[in-house]
Amino acid sequence: MLRPHESQAPTERCPRITAGIRQDTRCTTGYASAGRHRLAILDEEIVLTNPTVHPAWVRAFHWINAAAVILMCMSGWQVYEASPLFSFVRFPASITLGGWLGGALLWHFAVMWILVANFIAYLVLGIMTGRLGRTLFALSIRTVATDLAAALRGKLGHGDPSQYNAVQKLAYLVVIADIVLIILSGLTLWKPVQFPVLRALMGGYDNARVVHFAAMSVLAGFFAIHVVMVALVPRSLLTMIRGR
Ligand code: HEM
Repeated sequence: MLRPHESQAPTERCPRITAGIRQDTRCTTGYASAGRHRLAILDEEIVLTNPTVHPAWVRAFHWINAAAVILMCMSGWQVYEASPLFSFVRFPASITLGGWLGGALLWHFAVMWILVANFIAYLVLGIMTGRLGRTLFALSIRTVATDLAAALRGKLGHGDPSQYNAVQKLAYLVVIADIVLIILSGLTLWKPVQFPVLRALMGGYDNARVVHFAAMSVLAGFFAIHVVMVALVPRSLLTMIRGR
């Protein structure tokens, strides 16, 4: 906004929107004749908003990732059934994939390439475009606490679908880190001899199984809460399907 004593060239141009990147741009165009009281100011505030919330590549990676995670869990549970870690944790055949150990391993090893390639591509593109930093960072304990308290009181706003709240950001960052841990512990179980450093980091082969199981449990917990949250805000599902 120009003040009366300020002078500015009359044709300042608004920055253009870059495809796929939301920008709120305030453009002020005006002119003033300094030294005189005759003043003509054109003060124009334009908020340009790109309606795309999730670009096509994010949607594609997200849904491929979701499908891959479901298939990995179902086949992993079948593999687990061949040698359960805990007597009190068993997975009924109706929610497993592969039919038997060999079949489940074939599924697990086939889908793992899709999961890993898709996940790496999502991270690389997210970092290169700056989207990952823009959407998931700028996080503090205070904003998480405030948003969590508001969410528990049912007072968290969902007005702007392009902005994740702090709890959402934290959950997405945790699940991304969790998928990294799942991949690394899985790599240890798959090639324990070829990756001795990883095996040592996991605390040995047997411990890598526990780490892999624990990381899967965190992912399953995220999945359940994530789906409930999406059901509570159905508009967010539309944005992840059609982009806006
Ligand atoms: C375990 C599987 C899944 C994982 C790991 C996962 C992970 C994520 C991540 C990381 C994001 C943020 C994406 C970004 O902005 O870059 C996201 C957003 C989203 N996910 Fe998932 N997701 C999973 C399954 C699902 C499922 C099954 C649904 C549908 C019910 C779903 C619906 C959504 C929606 C609607 C958003 C956008 C939320 C918003 O705009 O507020 N996700 N998910």
